Amino acid sequence: MKVLVIGSGGREHAIVRALLSDSSVHELHAAPGNAGIDGLIPTHQIDPQDPAEVTELARRLDSDLVVIGPEAPLISGVSDALREAGFPVFGPSREAAALEGSKAFAKGIMAEASVPTAMAKVASDIMEAGEALDALGAPYVVKDDGLAAGKGVVVTRDRDYALAHAQACFDGGGQVLIEEFLDGPEVSLFVICDGSTVVPLAPAQDFKRIFDGDEGPNTGGMGAYSPLEWIPEGLVQEVIDRVAQPVVDQMAHHGTPFIGVLYCGLALTSRGIRVIEFNARFGDPETQAVLARLRTPLGALLMASAKGQLAEVGPVRWAPETAVAVVLAAEGYPERPRTGDRLRGVRKAEQLEGVKVLQAGTSLDEQGKLVSSGGRVLSVVGLGTDLVDARERAYAGIELIELDGSQYRRDIAAKAAWGTIDVPAASARPENRG
Ligand code: AMP
Ligand code: GLY
Repeated sequence: MKVLVIGSGGREHAIVRALLSDSSVHELHAAPGNAGIDGLIPTHQIDPQDPAEVTELARRLDSDLVVIGPEAPLISGVSDALREAGFPVFGPSREAAALEGSKAFAKGIMAEASVPTAMAKVASDIMEAGEALDALGAPYVVKDDGLAAGKGVVVTRDRDYALAHAQACFDGGGQVLIEEFLDGPEVSLFVICDGSTVVPLAPAQDFKRIFDGDEGPNTGGMGAYSPLEWIPEGLVQEVIDRVAQPVVDQMAHHGTPFIGVLYCGLALTSRGIRVIEFNARFGDPETQAVLARLRTPLGALLMASAKGQLAEVGPVRWAPETAVAVVLAAEGYPERPRTGDRLRGVRKAEQLEGVKVLQAGTSLDEQGKLVSSGGRVLSVVGLGTDLVDARERAYAGIELIELDGSQYRRDIAAKAAWGTIDVPAASARPENRG
């Protein structure tokens, strides 16, 4: 089959690599891609958020399947335009992508489907925000209702800071969600959906904050690993039964079937599992770790989702190894990333055994040299026999890469490798999970 991948991040580089190892994929294109993707397959410089441009490209390439990586094209209706033109698409419609695009919409669906999540209040002005903060108490959680690339959330004990974030969201013309604070470790579970059937991938954990020890502001994600040895037995099935299947059924009931990947962001709290958020696409950088272990051909899986045939697909198969992805970010990320700096050592890092470099914010300058062009520049994925081994490989790789002023976390997957993640009892034992 001929596949077109939309997007330009590390996630899309990982998807492209996985599709290249699927023998049923005969032709692969990406738009717009990045320097890493461009080294592997033809890329096309179009606006990935423009439904007409993407549809025109799919027509020109005679694509059998279009895979949409990021959220922005989903929200701008690219999948709808493609479906109308008759293309099978991996990625939800604009209406179904509201599960990610509007946190208030997601809360509504969860309420209808009795899915466990944080208590929340919607506020449209500073008075309402203040009342909601006081009703729910500290630590305060304030979320921009719309899309904010993982950066619209503030978690703080400082009431003034919480209010200032709410005000900034109002100034931007939006509303905010004030939420109950969820304690306990986080899990990202990707669930492939075809509108009715759901198929889980291996769980991963993401590291959202910029600095070691989970300090500093939230980012799009600074690292990830998969699988999770420490999660309670039966957790994936519980998430399917209590979260993914009810949400997919509810979306179908609304006449907006969810086709694509439902990213369930979960907290294992002292009161049981809770949904933190949904995304309507693969997570970045979790995908870089998750797909590094995938043995099932990815193209066939995504095509089954697009065509409503997931019920005919067997369980997903995985390599026994563990994968760790560490993100290299530009100086100034997440606030004001500096771009245009020379990158060196990528090829050297890739020569290490069990090491892959997945590029994100990279491009070639006029001399054809690799330079940074975004906040998260690349991620280095180590595949090893266990977490300790995979971490060593990933860090050996990233140490070979030079980028002026760049930053990366040294503690990705460290707690899990040392066995010091605490799962609250209520989330650890099935009979307690309320
Ligand atoms: P989101 O954009 O909703 O995924 O939030 C980004 C990050 O903020 C999450 O991964 C959590 O680390 C944190 N966060 C979001 N909501 C809550 C909550 N209710 N309680 C505690 N932490 C949260
Ligand atoms: N890694 C978090 C996200 O993709 O939203």
